[in-house]
Amino acid sequence: MELDDVNSITVLGAGNMGHGIAEVAALAGYDVVLRDINEEFVQNGYDQIEWSLGKLAEKDQMTEEEADAALERVTPIVDLGEAVADADVVVEAVPEKMEIKKEVYGELEEKAPDHTVFATNTSSLSITDLSEVTERPEQFCGMHFFNPPVRMPLVEVISGAHTADETMDLVEGLAESMGKTPVRVRKDSPGFIVNRILVPLMNEAAWIVHDDAATVEEVDSTTKFDIGLPMGSFELADQVGIDVGFHVLEYMHEVLGDAYEPCPLLAEKVENENLGKKTGKGFYDYDNGGVDIPT
Ligand code: 3HC
Repeated sequence: MELDDVNSITVLGAGNMGHGIAEVAALAGYDVVLRDINEEFVQNGYDQIEWSLGKLAEKDQMTEEEADAALERVTPIVDLGEAVADADVVVEAVPEKMEIKKEVYGELEEKAPDHTVFATNTSSLSITDLSEVTERPEQFCGMHFFNPPVRMPLVEVISGAHTADETMDLVEGLAESMGKTPVRVRKDSPGFIVNRILVPLMNEAAWIVHDDAATVEEVDSTTKFDIGLPMGSFELADQVGIDVGFHVLEYMHEVLGDAYEPCPLLAEKVENENLGKKTGKGFYDYDNGGVDIPT
C-alpha cells in the first residue's frame, strides 16, 4: 500500500494518547474511527478532542471551521469489527500491558482487512513480540507519539524483527503527512530512544524525593529552570500518567536490569490511583492549585 491509498485510520484506545492521535490524524484530513471498549470511554475521548480543538481555535492556531471539520472526521465506535472494517491503518493505543495488547491483536487479526497496517503506540514493549500474535508481522511496526500528541512534533517509528521496509516507509510518510517529524528506531529495544532517556529521569527524580534529598518542588524547579527542560520531572510524570511511566520502568527493569528498578514512590501513587492530571491528582493536586514550581 502507498501513502496515497491511506484514507481511513482507526485508533484503538480513546485514552490520553489515543484521543490525541485521533485528533492529529483528523487534523491531517484522514477519516478517523476512535474505538474503545465502552461508550463512556469512547465518548470521553471524543469530548477531549472537542476540548483540545476548541482550545487550539481559541488560541488562533486554527480557525473554528478547521476545528469543526476535524471533529466531523472523527467517528466514535465501540464494536471492534465495525471500527476496523474500512481501516487502512490501525494505530493501537490500548493500556501498556503485554497481555492486554496481545489479546487485542488476536481479535484484530480476525477482524481487520488483509491490507491493513498495524502500528502500535506502545511506549516500550517489544514490537516483535506483539507482531508475532498476528499473521502479518511484516505489516506491523511501532508508531510512538508523545504526550500531548497535538503539541509534540516527534514520532518514533520502530521496526520489529519482521517489519517490511515498505511498512516503515509508509508509516514514516504517514507521520510526516500529520505534520510530525518521524525518527526511525532501528532496533526494537525497551523504551526505544525517548523513554529510555525520559522514564529513568522521572524515576531518578522519585528516588531523590524517596531518599529525602529534596522535595518534589525543589527537584522540579531544578529540572525546569536550571537544567532547562520544558517541564519539571514530576510535572512531566503527571502529564504522561504515573502509571504509564511505571509500567515502562517495570518492563525496562525486567529486560535491562536493576538500574531501572522503579522507585516505591511511583508504585505507591499507582496503587492509590493518583496517576497525575488524568485522575486530578498525582505529584500535584489539580483540584487545588495544580503545578506550582518555585523559580
Ligand atoms: N490540546 C490543546 N491545548 C492544550 C493541550 C492539548 N492537548 N494540552 C495543553 N493545552 C493547553 C493548556 O491548557 C494551556 O492552555 P492555557 O494557556 O489556556 O491554560 C496551554 O496549552 C499551555 O501551552 P503553552 O504553549 O502556553 O505551554 P508550553 O509552552 O509550556 O507548552 C508543552 C506546553 C508543549 C506541553 C510543553 O510544556 C512541553 O513540551 N512539555 C514537555 C512534554 C513532553 O516531554 N512530552 C513527552 C513525554 S514522554 C511521552 O509522552 C512518551 C510516553 O510513551 C510516556
